[in-house]
Amino acid sequence: MSVENIDSVLNEERLFEPAAIFKADARISSADTLATMRHHANEDYTGFWAEQARSEISWHQPFSTVLDKSHAPHYQWFSDGLMNVSYNCLDRHLETKGNHTAIVFEGEQGDIRTLTYHQLYADVCAFANALKAQGITKGDRIVIYMPMIPEAVIAMQACARIGAIHSVVFGGFSAESLKDRIEDAGARMLITADGGHRGGKIVELKAAADKALASGCATIEKVIVYQRTGHAIEFKEGRDLWWHDAIDCMDSICMPEWVEAEHPLFLLYTSGSTGKPKGIQHSSAGYLLGTITSMKWVFDIRDSDTFWCTADVGWVTGHSYVAYGPLAVGATILIYEGAPTVPNAGRFWDICQRHKVTIFYTAPTAIRALMKLGDEIPAQYDLSSLRLLGSVGEPINPEAWIWYHKTIGQERCPIVDTWWQTETGCIMIAPIPGAVATKPGSCTLPLPGIIADVVDENGNSINEPNKGGYLVIKKPWPSMLRTVWGDDERYIKTYWPKFGGKYYLAGDSARRDKDGYFWIMGRIDDVLNVSGHRLGTMEVESALVAHPRVAEAAVVGRPDEIKGEAIFAYVVLKGTRPAGGVDEVLTKELRAWVAEQIGPIAKPDDIRYSDNLPKTRSGKIMRRLLRTIAKGEEITQDTSTLENEAILLQLQGKV
Ligand code: WTA
Repeated sequence: MSVENIDSVLNEERLFEPAAIFKADARISSADTLATMRHHANEDYTGFWAEQARSEISWHQPFSTVLDKSHAPHYQWFSDGLMNVSYNCLDRHLETKGNHTAIVFEGEQGDIRTLTYHQLYADVCAFANALKAQGITKGDRIVIYMPMIPEAVIAMQACARIGAIHSVVFGGFSAESLKDRIEDAGARMLITADGGHRGGKIVELKAAADKALASGCATIEKVIVYQRTGHAIEFKEGRDLWWHDAIDCMDSICMPEWVEAEHPLFLLYTSGSTGKPKGIQHSSAGYLLGTITSMKWVFDIRDSDTFWCTADVGWVTGHSYVAYGPLAVGATILIYEGAPTVPNAGRFWDICQRHKVTIFYTAPTAIRALMKLGDEIPAQYDLSSLRLLGSVGEPINPEAWIWYHKTIGQERCPIVDTWWQTETGCIMIAPIPGAVATKPGSCTLPLPGIIADVVDENGNSINEPNKGGYLVIKKPWPSMLRTVWGDDERYIKTYWPKFGGKYYLAGDSARRDKDGYFWIMGRIDDVLNVSGHRLGTMEVESALVAHPRVAEAAVVGRPDEIKGEAIFAYVVLKGTRPAGGVDEVLTKELRAWVAEQIGPIAKPDDIRYSDNLPKTRSGKIMRRLLRTIAKGEEITQDTSTLENEAILLQLQGKV
């Protein structure tokens, strides 16, 4: 698909200047200050980042090389420096703010716990010692499959402390997905819990873990199980170990392992358009730096803030803006375990009120879902503690933006619409709230030191306003991914396939308006974005085809008011097509099947049965046509190359 043919239909002219009360004591409070930073970054790119790295990171051994391009596109930053991420998140705060609250936790059932920096440090050290006692050493991979509780962060920090590489798997993923990730990472250990509380039910994490391990995962030696729910679970002697037993008698001091700046901090699996999920590999120092600078620039973070990022640690947002960035700057974070509607639709606002949340960062899908429930619900709560709101994961439509601004932010709080990706490690394009005016639906301008552009097929900048093109990053940046775990070739092919390998290809299309503001238009590949989470069409298709009755499947996204995109599946069965293309029993079964294979998030919303899929003569599935049909739009594409034009009516659900 050529991105240049994408015309923008959105014409949003509203402009919101930073509110005076926010600007009054913002860290970056004027366009001039920001311009000076940008100027510095543009004139002396590596000097700019070196200065940030020296002032924001506590080094065990300072670096002398800033950017090493000799293995491009495997760029290295600060490579001869030694440091430790957990030291930067914990130890360095102890003297000045050991008694400052690090984590405020609220369980779905209402249980509340707070941890000071000193307590968090002691818990992380004890668990790090427990990992060492189990024989874990630097470079070992550990998979974490946990509910959204402080122990998830403690486990991540403990890995970082001893140089083990964690890979967190979202607790909503199935046994199958867990197994694939464990095997790809070659993990020695799995850290999980008996279960978690979500939506008034228990999420059976240990049961799913047992299932995954029973079907493979030969590299796993030990499973550490945190007792969260206390319900009965199976326990395998010799392999399974309770968290509380593992830390029993462990010292609450553990010296950090000093690692090279480039030592992998974590792998996080994310979907691509083809093949299995990719293990995105991040570094230690460069990654940490990006999370710190963005915490300061975009979130304007202070000691007096209570920062609530609602993302689960299973996603990159929960890595950068729960487990690492906020702790590295010594902030107070809020962690909530459960669903936004338990016990009622006011839960988020109730939490904001009771814990006096000052910065609230969530996804458009949540904003739209809460917006649908009406203004009366947030109106029942005191939201006056809020001072800044954020959005991430997909484009936020202007209607939801305005609602967020008026009803939640009460026209007082700036909104930071933050564009970034698992691969970028931290926020790349977003407003600096005290210095950049916002426009509903635009993520505004790249951060200082991030050289983003919109280019055409040949890599030339598109200067004509509002003309769509490829979103690229033209210079390597510290928090960028380093590779795809175990697959350098895939890293190069996926992210550097065009423009002579010079620019990072984000996979999104974008346009810039007359003021240079960026507007993200969508993915250029076949990646679905459901509720702000990326899912490869391939993954859902493979799951469907794995069902004994399915011969072939194609899935596409169709716009959905709440989820952003809903999944529409076209299925060809082995044997005869159900009469009229409808089989509700089978549809139910297939939806449950996909939930089992990947996770409930991947369940198709619609399934339509046909005798065939529309293919070109060369055998390619005509996805664009399927998208048109899924949207219920009139077909304007040329269908003459179709092998079997008659199936169009079946695909449209007309026969
Ligand atoms: C999309 C999430 C528009 C985009 C941090 C990107 C967005 C993908 C925005 C990455 C935004 C993320 N506006 N689109 N503010 N933020 N996206 O890896 O398509 O889960 O490429 O990282 O989400 O999703 P990922």
